[in-house]
Amino acid sequence: MIVTIDGPAGSGKSTVAKIIAIRYNFIYLDTGAIYRSLAYLAKSLGIDVEDEERILPIIPGMNIDFVKVGDSQRVLLNGVDVTLEIRTEEIGMLASKVSRHKGVRKSLLDFQRSFKEKGDIVAEGRDTGTVVFPEADIKVFLTASAEERARRRWKELMERGIEEDLEKILESIKRRDEQDSSRDIAPLIPAEDAVIIDTTNLSIEEVVERIGKLIDGKRGL
Ligand code: DC
Repeated sequence: MIVTIDGPAGSGKSTVAKIIAIRYNFIYLDTGAIYRSLAYLAKSLGIDVEDEERILPIIPGMNIDFVKVGDSQRVLLNGVDVTLEIRTEEIGMLASKVSRHKGVRKSLLDFQRSFKEKGDIVAEGRDTGTVVFPEADIKVFLTASAEERARRRWKELMERGIEEDLEKILESIKRRDEQDSSRDIAPLIPAEDAVIIDTTNLSIEEVVERIGKLIDGKRGL
């Protein structure tokens, strides 16, 4: 079974996808981590993410592994654990920029699609239901107001001991929304057959339950 969960930054995709993966024993495919790793690699090589001609040649040498450690998943980039390093706002913004290139998106497609050979998957990102797995059994699109998404991000950072200005986070979220939604290729839009869930006033558990019902329904339970 393939379940896709798409939506903007801060809509709760990752949290929800991780729980679904554990509860249903699905493989968790974090497609954002792939774009983030590429942005991180480009930055460490001193390559401008806007420069597609210089970005494309580094993709074949980029090795990304998702390694399960207990209930969490680590991201290894060329054998180095970059799980935390790729989570910064800066890398998020660079990932959003690098993901706008048509050739970049195309080069990363096969890698993403190869995951379905490994078992049932829950894939999370911006275009997993529209482009990567148009044949998915269940497509979910999560939304939430920009203010609520900024608040969630602020809280998450606070819990990690990082103090950020809420207004600044809100601005960054709106900029990334605009960047991800306005690109020509694979923009952030729900698939026609996606179930849209507005999570603004829902708890994580409520969202998980709704998706769980969709999975059970497909399984005929
Ligand atoms: O979900 P995330 O915040 O980790 O994603 C980081 C950026 O990567 C996002 O702003 C746009 C890009 N991305 C994408 O273009 N397509 C995906 N399927 C996943 C992420």
